[in-house]
Amino acid sequence: ATLTSKEQAAFKFKEVPHGLDEFVTLPPGYDYQVVMRWGDPLFSEAAAFEPLAQTGEKQLKQFGFNNDYIGFLPLSNEQRQSTHGLLVVNHEHTKAKLMHPGATNDCDLTLEQTKVDIAAHGVSVLEVRKDAETWQVVKNSRFNRRITPETPMRMTGPAAGSKRLISKSSENGVDSRGTCANCAGGITPWGTVLTAEENVDQFFTGDIEQLAEKRNYQRMIFSGEPEKSWSRHFERWDLNKNPNEGNHMGWIVEIDPFDPNSVPKKRTALGRFKHEACNLFINRDGRVVAYMGDDEKFEYVYRFVSKRRFRNQSDSESATFNANLLEEGTLSAAKFDDAGRLTWLPLVFGEDGLGPENDFHSQADVVIEARRAADIVGATPMDRPEDIEVNPVSHKVYVMLTKNKSRKTDQLDGANPRALNRGGQIVELTAPGGDHTADIFEWDMLLLCGDPNTCVTNYHSETTPNGWLSCPDNCTFDNQGNLWAATDGAEDFGVADGLWAIQTEGEKRGYARRFLRVPIGAELCGPYFTPDNKTLFCAVQHPGGDGSFDKPDTRWPDFDVTLPPRPAVIAIYKKDGGVIGS
Ligand code: FEO
Ligand code: CA
Ligand code: CA
Ligand code: CA
Repeated sequence: ATLTSKEQAAFKFKEVPHGLDEFVTLPPGYDYQVVMRWGDPLFSEAAAFEPLAQTGEKQLKQFGFNNDYIGFLPLSNEQRQSTHGLLVVNHEHTKAKLMHPGATNDCDLTLEQTKVDIAAHGVSVLEVRKDAETWQVVKNSRFNRRITPETPMRMTGPAAGSKRLISKSSENGVDSRGTCANCAGGITPWGTVLTAEENVDQFFTGDIEQLAEKRNYQRMIFSGEPEKSWSRHFERWDLNKNPNEGNHMGWIVEIDPFDPNSVPKKRTALGRFKHEACNLFINRDGRVVAYMGDDEKFEYVYRFVSKRRFRNQSDSESATFNANLLEEGTLSAAKFDDAGRLTWLPLVFGEDGLGPENDFHSQADVVIEARRAADIVGATPMDRPEDIEVNPVSHKVYVMLTKNKSRKTDQLDGANPRALNRGGQIVELTAPGGDHTADIFEWDMLLLCGDPNTCVTNYHSETTPNGWLSCPDNCTFDNQGNLWAATDGAEDFGVADGLWAIQTEGEKRGYARRFLRVPIGAELCGPYFTPDNKTLFCAVQHPGGDGSFDKPDTRWPDFDVTLPPRPAVIAIYKKDGGVIGS
């Protein structure tokens, strides 16, 4: 059977071969420009990047390290909506070896280096504009903003005001400070951005055994051992001195990028775990459905359904109403059976064992310890749930499960069918009759990933020897509904990470084609298309990841002997100005 022209659109580019080198490689006819690199100033008065003279003060006004999520929010009218907007970019983590000359690890940084380290985390908001050929950052834009682990924030929802959130930086359990370990995210239909706090354990130290929150912190895999230098210089991160501070991290944070003075809100109704991303779908009855993964071995897939309904009007009253939709609703965890059924198990205080019998005394307790609540109701432990997104054409949901080398042969199930899983898989969820609030969905395996020479895989038979991918992490969709999956872990198979276009429907379902290769050491994050699909923003994270500032494996993207490799956001385009993939 032949494909419809719609189905073929993403697959007209010439496939990029596997390989591993210092460069970003794209198909013939495509090119990229660097939009923003670690250290680039966001403001006209900010200091230029000087790698040997970096300070915390400078870093506060510069683009952060290890860019992950990218969201693009149009600023202009329809004609320019794909050439003018806000880019919101996460800075997931740092690596001292690549940032500071002579540094060998992240734990023994000086006070000044630690200030740089902290300020290089969080989120950047920047106005970008495409003039003639190239994207420019508008440096004097009133929208440009750095959000860091110190930015004032507010807790909302069931945990707001809980005594378990009272700490030295929060006398009332409502005020909160900053965000960190921001992995992926999502954009809401009302124009805000959701950023996901993922590996929040790394910043905190302390003797966990001695703490009242021991069970909770251990379930979040807080070791208490130093992985960073933050608690050496700032008491806030020392759990022995500030025992509840760890409960301020591990949430979905909602940011209004159009109001640079807005206070970001931590949406506790969506649960506390190692959040990878958060993507929304407006159900046909107007309720907002959020899909989320908890990226750790044997953790869960979650869904949130808002109590109230989205108002599709553009007046300010509706905007204010929508802005609070994520405050109240039902959080559930997913149970996958082997017959293709997925049951959403609600995490509601007082129901299904989530009461005093298991030491839950309020919905605040349930959301703070969402992992333990999901254990009790019987959710299915997955192979590290990463990004989850709804296909804008078919409305099916796709779950990236990156890998799980610890899964044993006696722990297999239909959705996690391989032991010592190195390659990861992509699972498809179908809402019955398109109702994303339903209790029961169907699920199917789209792709068992990995190198077919060493893993059991199920690629479409026409997938070439360059078409296999491993360790799917971030994803996005083009306007035709083709899935684009970015990877983090292909070097384990000897090839560079990158981006693949994958067909989800029709005769060629499960067909994958490689579109991009990142430089050695890097993973690819944040793929995000402009509405016209003519620019594809991508975040190249930790290029030269195994090298050091003094001895880098690559100096991408500058290839200047005075500069280290730098994580950077790039804009990919087709040289003939056409739609990406066409
Ligand atoms: Fe930060 Fe799960 O990748
Ligand atoms: Ca990720
Ligand atoms: Ca995504
Ligand atoms: Ca990752």
